[in-house]
Amino acid sequence: MAKISSMPAARSKILSKELIRQVQRAVKNAYAPYSKIQVGAGILCKGDRIYSGANIENSSYSLSICAERVAIFKAISEGEKRFQILLVYSPQIDFILPCGACLQVISEFAPDIIVATMNKNIEFKFHPLCTLLSKAFVIKS
Ligand code: THU
Repeated sequence: MAKISSMPAARSKILSKELIRQVQRAVKNAYAPYSKIQVGAGILCKGDRIYSGANIENSSYSLSICAERVAIFKAISEGEKRFQILLVYSPQIDFILPCGACLQVISEFAPDIIVATMNKNIEFKFHPLCTLLSKAFVIKS
């Protein structure tokens, strides 16, 4: 398992301590009274700004939103266009991966992004988005 200290330089550089810190902070703001699964996500933009998000559930279940979409929508709505890495974390699920809906949303804005996932021991796995969603739905303009 890749510890941040033993990671290839290129990856450990973009998987900064600050990104990890922001995701750990975001997960504490998860609103998950129904599933009890708290998720935090953070997206590092080119230019090094970070946007974090947490899952927010609703008593009308289908209105719930995942942490990844909160993070990416925050970034997009602030005008960000280029992304380096997305980090996802849940204290309840080791190496949580984005759901299919989030993969589709991420692919709209960042088809070449690396998705990093972390466990409670702060170990990582890395997945290029295209390995998680090999055939995204696209409308060619
Ligand atoms: N969830 C996320 O926030 N991200 C994921 O990658 C998968 C699932 C949330 C949605 C819901 O609030 C809870 O986790 C259980 O599905």
